[in-house]
Amino acid sequence: MACKGKGLPQTNKENRIIFFKGVDFVLFYMLKSIMFSDSYYLCGRFLIINVITYTTMVNYKDLGLVNTREMFAKAIKGGYAIPAFNFNNMEQMQAIIKAAVETKSPVILQVSKGARQYANATLLRYMAQGAVEYAKELGCAHPEIVLHLDHGDTFETCKSCIDSGFSSVMIDGSHLPYEENVALTKKVVEYAHQFDVTVEGELGVLAGVEDEVSSDHHTYTDPEEVIDFATRTGCDSLAISIGTSHGAYKFTPEQCHIDPKTGRMVPPPLAFEVLDAVMEKLPGFPIVLHGSSSVPEEEVETINKYGGALKAAIGIPEEELRKAAKSAVCKINIDSDSRLAMTAAVRKVFAEKPAEFDPRKYLGPARDNMEKLYKHKIINVLGSDNKLAQ
Ligand code: G3H
Ligand code: 13P
Ligand code: ZN
Repeated sequence: MACKGKGLPQTNKENRIIFFKGVDFVLFYMLKSIMFSDSYYLCGRFLIINVITYTTMVNYKDLGLVNTREMFAKAIKGGYAIPAFNFNNMEQMQAIIKAAVETKSPVILQVSKGARQYANATLLRYMAQGAVEYAKELGCAHPEIVLHLDHGDTFETCKSCIDSGFSSVMIDGSHLPYEENVALTKKVVEYAHQFDVTVEGELGVLAGVEDEVSSDHHTYTDPEEVIDFATRTGCDSLAISIGTSHGAYKFTPEQCHIDPKTGRMVPPPLAFEVLDAVMEKLPGFPIVLHGSSSVPEEEVETINKYGGALKAAIGIPEEELRKAAKSAVCKINIDSDSRLAMTAAVRKVFAEKPAEFDPRKYLGPARDNMEKLYKHKIINVLGSDNKLAQ
């Protein structure tokens, strides 16, 4: 609650800022009178700021979360990928954790900038902390859960996530000129690694439009750049562009052909030759695929049957993702499919039971439908089931 106005209580963050400004002011005069020099004062100030940062920050290890390092190494060796599911609300989080626990899969909980704005950054972080306890309550003694910032756009956003308990961050400088992307990613890596937080960088541009991630064209990753990028930035994983894109409209019908057996639209294949070239340049390096929703036809049909208007929504065929998961692709991002599963279930309840107005009666089925979807992805697409250590 941001309470503004005279006499109203302030948020913790605002209080902390006022407090530190006060401390800084007093220290300035105290240190200046003792040390006589501005440079001594600046050194003292730097030291104090560092002490404050280290003592006020929340480390993800204390929350029971893990980073991606070991998880990715095992996934590459084992020929599977870790699911990275976005969440914005409690029902999505519950469904993700239940699916991960019941399939004994490691999982990455992803929070986008849009999600932080929608649900409140603090709330989402505490929900992820709660997710670890929830997984244990469901019978998983040692859950492997990563809390990851999706498409971090600035150093400050990444720092704020690292300082508040995220175990992994993405810095997305893919839209920047190459050298700027390198410099920004390197800066985030240098900060994150002090706290053993892992960092995902991105090279190449994905097409597609989401709330905070938009581009109307794509550029495949240039395999010639990946060694230089990974070496100079020190990033722990690399998101690449091989033809996937964000959202539910990944291809136009004109780009697809009809499968004579099923009558379904088949999009052009992913650029596996680009992936192969990247893997050749960086053997064993963790690769990430964004924009990997399959846009299940049955969910789109249900949505349209019950009043929706999703026209020509086309995703990535699951066989292509299964093939990618067997390679160095060890993290696959899925968000739109969960949105479709949720919307389909809610629309069905509204259409079939128009007198229903208890949110649990439509959010409950939505949660069940998402859980079913997550389990399907884990078992049949990513192959991360039964991969927990115990
Ligand atoms: O890649 C983007 C994710 O799907 C997050 O989307 O920014 O609408 O939360 P959002
Ligand atoms: P989709 O829109 O294909 O689900 O991609 C999600 C994503 O890449 C999140 O970063
Ligand atoms: Zn993405």
